[in-house]
Amino acid sequence: MNPSELLLDEAAEVIPGGVNTCRRRSEPRLCIRRGEGAYIEDLDGRRYVDYHAAYGAILLGHSHPAVVERVSRAMRDTVLFGLGVTEAEVALAQAIVRHVPSVEQVVVCNSGSEATYHAIRLARGITGRQKIVKFQGCYNGFHDYVLRNVLSAPGGVGARDPHSKGMLEAAIDATVVCRFNDLEDVGAALDRHDGEVAAIVVEPIAHNSPGLLPHPGFLPGLRDLCDRTGALLIFDEVITGFRHHIGGYQAIAGVMPDLTTMGKAIANGCPIAAIGGARRHLEHFTTNPAGDVHFGGTYNGNAIGVEAALATIEQLEDGHVHEHVFALGQRMRDGLAAIAERAGIPAVVGGYGSLFVLCFMEGPLNSYEDVLRNDTDLFMRYRRELIARGVLEMPESLGRSHISAAHTEEDIDRSLAIAEDALRAALDALAGRSAAPAASA
Ligand SMILES: Cc1ncc(COP(=O)(O)O)c(C=O)c1O
Repeated sequence: MNPSELLLDEAAEVIPGGVNTCRRRSEPRLCIRRGEGAYIEDLDGRRYVDYHAAYGAILLGHSHPAVVERVSRAMRDTVLFGLGVTEAEVALAQAIVRHVPSVEQVVVCNSGSEATYHAIRLARGITGRQKIVKFQGCYNGFHDYVLRNVLSAPGGVGARDPHSKGMLEAAIDATVVCRFNDLEDVGAALDRHDGEVAAIVVEPIAHNSPGLLPHPGFLPGLRDLCDRTGALLIFDEVITGFRHHIGGYQAIAGVMPDLTTMGKAIANGCPIAAIGGARRHLEHFTTNPAGDVHFGGTYNGNAIGVEAALATIEQLEDGHVHEHVFALGQRMRDGLAAIAERAGIPAVVGGYGSLFVLCFMEGPLNSYEDVLRNDTDLFMRYRRELIARGVLEMPESLGRSHISAAHTEEDIDRSLAIAEDALRAALDALAGRSAAPAASA
């Protein structure tokens, strides 16, 4: 057994399954020791060019010096005080308000799930309604309000498909599931639940599915439906916010939600998330003396997340990071499409900006039902062959991949050469042309 496997076995004695989130159990079994820029190194001393990027939290590259420096400096005299507000918290709120077009006020918490939880409760508090609409294939966090119809198996698509045991039945049933890119379906759901829907929660690009782009009329159509029915529109920008634009995807789409949740790339891997929106909505939180929607959290506004977010936003302000990662994303997607064509297999390269995913299926890729055509065996085999060659993309079905500001054109071109080799090996193995499975990295 190698050191990663030994540590995971040791961990399993004291941590159920040996890992701290369900999605960290990977095949091959890996533990990472350190990261720098675009590269990470595992416990066994192997280096990988990293496109996993901690599920997209890393945008600038691992251990970015500006983030490390700012957080370390702050830690000397600030971690957490538990009363009042720090100058850094105010500076961060001002920066978010300055950049994210629909946001007049903002509060911070510590994870994307907390952010969507608070945003939904706020919408319920404001509207006095109970139900929400989410979309099949979107992931909006781990709590009962939204943990249904995520990566559903074919039988669960559009059906009542809770993702976990132990969920509150009433919460599952208060969440109505619609098809992404299908305004008729959303309109019909709002008619069926007339006057009951507090909010529509949507990933403006369904990156968890693993890259469904909104049709041109979809987001404006959701805006209209909300305006007509009195539901609030919540953009879950936990992936898209800051990664695609400093103002979030709303700044690109020109569609303004009522509430926005942000997380991940805002702080380059440090724990912080945010809920923003119009002052008249945010003032309902009990942070305001006249508020009526509870908002609490011991660690809210801790210096690690806040300083990391300030440092990250500073890096994004002149636009060069986005220009760089968008150009590399296009280079990667074009290169992967050419590789699939040369291999003579059906493939769709999804993604946007710095995100990419090579799916093995005929197009189009418009809805979650389309995603089900992906050849999971080939997808997983290809990912294992990539990892064995030192390219880390999420070793899980339909996992998207992320480019950071630390990647270079050379990294992309080298990764593409490896991708071609990995795809050939995966196809050969599945055709029975090679007895040897992918080495475990
Ligand atoms: C769109 C979206 N919303 C919310 C979340 C939940 O964020 P967290 O894992 O920080 O709780 C995620 C996590 O992947 C996400 O992708």
